[in-house]
Amino acid sequence: MIDMETLRQAAGYVRAQLGPADIGIVLGSGLGSYTETLENRACVPYKAIPDFPVSTAPGHEGKWWAGDLGSKRVYMLQGRIHFYEGRSLDEVTMYVRMMKLLGVRALILTNAAGCVNASWEAGDLMLIRDFINYSGINPLIGPNLDEMGPRFPDMGAACDKAMGTLCLEQAKRLDIRLREGVYMWFSGPSYETPAEVRMARILGADAVGMSTVPELIVARHCGLPTLGISCLTNMAAGILDQPLNHLEVMEAANRVQQAFRSLITATVEAL
Ligand code: HPA
Repeated sequence: MIDMETLRQAAGYVRAQLGPADIGIVLGSGLGSYTETLENRACVPYKAIPDFPVSTAPGHEGKWWAGDLGSKRVYMLQGRIHFYEGRSLDEVTMYVRMMKLLGVRALILTNAAGCVNASWEAGDLMLIRDFINYSGINPLIGPNLDEMGPRFPDMGAACDKAMGTLCLEQAKRLDIRLREGVYMWFSGPSYETPAEVRMARILGADAVGMSTVPELIVARHCGLPTLGISCLTNMAAGILDQPLNHLEVMEAANRVQQAFRSLITATVEAL
């Protein structure tokens, strides 16, 4: 079980190495090269941060960056840790609580996801309006960290409405197509079956993926306003008659880099 002392030490290390920042951004699969756009940047490798887990998924570098994005100082996390890597949800969500302790006032989570909504297209970006935790587990199971938040946190606004509206406004201004929908979390690492994707659609999901939901729950618990954006890299299993693979996911994410970067940069500027 994670405790406040461990979190404080890890956050203290990041602050000592990189200084403070206004906003945190987590880069999903295939989106890691966004760190190139930071000015006055510096980073620490995850392995140098006390007790911080190291990511193993291909396309997840494992570096905690700080830099200027427009007029804002941001942290960018290049590489997230997934539950399917065999890590505990305390480890998966550790950076969220560290961001809170570091004084970040908003968090932006990005991911690659499969598109369940058959009227949308691979390559679309989606604002996560709400989510379904289909994993059967929850990152808040265990002793409650009272300093962070309540035992039974409300999840009505786990995806911050004001940040979502602001992001949609920026998408409109930039003429970027931004869908809005429900993200359903499967643990992975196997992709969903066609039957699971049909079930997801019946249950109200627009996208399926292997991350982000534990972080959204923990961010809501500690009162950190959070926005989630999915890059819908592929139609989910069974919609098209073709197998899924991680390389294609990363390549597809790479193809929409430009729109994705413009949208996040504009949203950060407007926050
Ligand atoms: N399913 C789950 N996770 C994903 C997918 C998918 O189809 N595409 C990218 N991440």
